[in-house]
Amino acid sequence: MSAASQVVSAETIRLNAICPYFTMFPLDFPLDILREHARPNARVLDPFCGRGTTNFAARLLGLRTVGIDASRVATAATQAKLVAPTPGEIVDLARVLLRRRRKAVKIPEGEFWSLAYHSDVLRDLCLIRDALLKDTIAAHVAAALRGIVLGALHGPIGRTKHSYFSNQCPRTYGPKPAYAVKFWTKRGLLPPRVDVLAVIAERAHRYYGNTSPKIVGAAIEGDSRQRSTLDEAREIIGKFDWIVTSPPYYGLRTYLPDQWIRNWFLGGPASVDYTSEGQISHSGRDRFVADLREVWANAGAHCRPGATLVIRFGSIGDRLVEDPAELIMASLETTGWVVMDIRHADNAARGKRQADTFHRKRSAPCDEVDVWAKWQP
Ligand SMILES: C[S@@+](CC[C@H](N)C(=O)[O-])C[C@H]1O[C@@H](n2cnc3c(N)ncnc32)[C@H](O)[C@@H]1O
Repeated sequence: MSAASQVVSAETIRLNAICPYFTMFPLDFPLDILREHARPNARVLDPFCGRGTTNFAARLLGLRTVGIDASRVATAATQAKLVAPTPGEIVDLARVLLRRRRKAVKIPEGEFWSLAYHSDVLRDLCLIRDALLKDTIAAHVAAALRGIVLGALHGPIGRTKHSYFSNQCPRTYGPKPAYAVKFWTKRGLLPPRVDVLAVIAERAHRYYGNTSPKIVGAAIEGDSRQRSTLDEAREIIGKFDWIVTSPPYYGLRTYLPDQWIRNWFLGGPASVDYTSEGQISHSGRDRFVADLREVWANAGAHCRPGATLVIRFGSIGDRLVEDPAELIMASLETTGWVVMDIRHADNAARGKRQADTFHRKRSAPCDEVDVWAKWQP
């Protein structure tokens, strides 16, 4: 028997879109794998969870799941998909936070911030930010509100109705300040006076109006190369049966700086953060392979015998130094994982290439592969 008996409706999958991220894989990829092959009580790990697509697929199928990511934006987006407050609870929380004393709140200053957000909107965002950082608010409601604000933080200005809080921006990544200021000034674009509570209410109903209540899962902010991070994951759900994951594409180093505005909302600095703390190293092929090997070995140590690992992987543009499949196979050597199958994403059943979701200039076509392995230490 597999998890296939779970019914997944169009309404329940809306939550997957709560916060854009890049290089996410399509929901169908983990959903089809788990639906077809996982037992109803299987436990699912993603050690590079990004915006939590695998974890959300597991949740839809009623499976226990943990996601790990070195980026706090990624883990906040994932955590928001592993809770089930009512829309009313989320809106009530936002309303209470927006009524708080306004004097004490710290508001970022400078040309970027004054052009990115209307002053009333920025003050409201800071009130919510401060409260979510300081308070012990019911964790599941706070996680949902955090995810909603992150998803609405920047995006295009609507013609008739505002769905995002910012001046004209990309949805997926935060633009660099100097570029954004030039862009807005040249076009005479001013930030709209958005009704923050109305945007939150609309999104709360869209994303949490039809969620399934049964969830066992969590997102951990941490480095999957560290044994202790995997220990923590195992403590939450027990030994893993499935790992469906997508490590950072080789050569893509901008996961943290590109999310700098969302990172600010979660307590980071009000300027671009160029650090790459906790991220897999891209300094060279051998180091990259060695880093991945540590993750597979650590995760394997907490797997049940016969557990399955599915890795979707590619590399971008000029950093394609070798066949991605070879690189993943090298990273699996001596780890206890035995490769069972390799499918090139072009001929893989799921079709849609993860690289198509890259931002800015489209990446040069790159080979994407799905590598399947079994835990046989
Ligand atoms: C390709 S993305 C994963 C996207 C995910 N499949 C989704 O659908 O959203 C790779 C992720 O690995 C994370 N990452 C990089 N190094 C890491 C590490 N050492 N430990 C945990 N996560 C890491 C990055 O922050 C990034 O979110």
